[in-house]
Amino acid sequence: MTTDTTGTVARDGDSRPGGPADSPFIRACRRRPVPHTPVWFMRQAGRSLPEYREIRASVPMLESCRRPELVTEITLQPVRRHGVDAAILFSDIVVPVAAAGIDLDIVPGTGPVVAEPIRTAADVERIRRITRDDVSYVDEAVRQLVVELGDTPLIGFAGAPFTLASYLVEGGPSRTHAKTKALMYGDPELWHALCARLAEVTLAFLRVQIDAGVSAVQLFDSWAGALSEADYRRFVLPHSTTVLSGLVNAGVPRIHFGVGTGELLGAMGEAGADVVGVDWRTPLDVATGRIGADKAVQGNLDPCVLLAPWPVVEAEVRRILEQGRAAPGHVFNLGHGVLPETDPEVLTRVVALVHELSSRRADQG
Ligand code: CP3
Repeated sequence: MTTDTTGTVARDGDSRPGGPADSPFIRACRRRPVPHTPVWFMRQAGRSLPEYREIRASVPMLESCRRPELVTEITLQPVRRHGVDAAILFSDIVVPVAAAGIDLDIVPGTGPVVAEPIRTAADVERIRRITRDDVSYVDEAVRQLVVELGDTPLIGFAGAPFTLASYLVEGGPSRTHAKTKALMYGDPELWHALCARLAEVTLAFLRVQIDAGVSAVQLFDSWAGALSEADYRRFVLPHSTTVLSGLVNAGVPRIHFGVGTGELLGAMGEAGADVVGVDWRTPLDVATGRIGADKAVQGNLDPCVLLAPWPVVEAEVRRILEQGRAAPGHVFNLGHGVLPETDPEVLTRVVALVHELSSRRADQG
C-alpha cells in the first residue's frame, strides 16, 4: 500500500503504469494529470443497446443480475461499443436488499416494487445483514470482469441509504417520497434505525465488490435532491458518511452522486467522497465552488440533449469540458442515466468528441 498526494491509500498491485489504477478515469478521480478527460455514462449498460435487449428478452432483470456470465457480457457491451474509459458493473441498487431477505421485484417500465413495504421497527429487522455468500454471484462476476477488462477500470456501486429507504418505505418508485418523509419526520428514531441498517448492507455490498477487484465505487443517492440541506444533514448525511468513510482505507476512489442536489453538493462531498456527481442543473464551475478544490467532479450533460441534433450535442459537450476545467479533476458523464430511447451511435460519438477535444488541450499543456 502507498499513500498518494490526495491522502488516499492506493492499491499496490494495480498501480503499475498502464494498469487500471493508472487509467485516465482513476487519475481524474484522484485529481492527477490526464492524457484526456475520461468519459463513461451512468446506465450505459442497458436499454439503449440492441445487444442488451436481445439478452434480456428472455431473462428477468433480477435474474440477469444473479448470473455472472450475463453480468459480465452486459457490463462489457458498452465498453466494446463506445470505447468508454470505465465499465460499470451490471446490477441494480436493490440487489443487496433482495439478498438481505426483502421480497421485491424490478418491474419493466416501473422500477423496483417491494411486496411488503418497511414501516415498523419489526420490518427493519427483516433486513438481514449480508455477507459475501449472500451475493457470491457479484463476487464471481467482478472477478471475471477484472480479467476481461484488463486495463479498463471497473466501477462498483450501491444505492445510498436514503434512496434505498425511499423504495422500501414507499413500496415502489415515488414522485413526492411522501411516505418516506412522513416516517422520517414522524419517527426519527425508526428512520435512523432503518438507514443505519441500510448503511450496513450497502457497506458490506461495496466491500465484496472492492475485495473482488473493482477500481472505484459510486454511491447512488439518486433521490436525495428531494430534501432541503438542513434535513439532508440531519437525516441522511450521517448514514451516507458511515458508508463512504467506511471505505476510506479501501484504496479506491469513491464517487457520490444524486439528482437535483445543487443545494447539497457541499454536504455530499463532506460525506467522504473523492468525486461528487453533478446533474445538469448546476454548471461544473459553480459546482466546484460549492464542493471545494479537494474533490473532483463528474458530469453533467443533460441526458435529453442526446436526443437533439448533433450540433447541439457538440456545443454542450464543449461547454461542459470548458466548465469542467475549473475543477481539480473532471470525469465526463451525463447528469443522470442514459434514456432508453437514446441512439447508441450518439453515445459513441460523444466519447470520441470528449477524447478529441480534451487531448488537444492536453497537447497544448
Ligand atoms: O449501466 C449501468 O449503469 C449499470 C446498471 C444499473 C442498473 N441500475 C441497471 C438497470 C445501475 C447503475 C442501476 C442503478 C439504479 N437502479 C439506480 C440509481 C441510478 C439512477 O438511475 O438514479 C436506481 C434509482 C435504480 C432503481 C431502478 N432500477 C429503476 C428506477 C429502474 C428503471 C425502471 C424502468 O424500467 O424504467 C430499474 C431497472 C433497471 N436497472 C434497468 C436496468 C438496465 C431496466 C431493466 C430493463 O432493462 O428492463
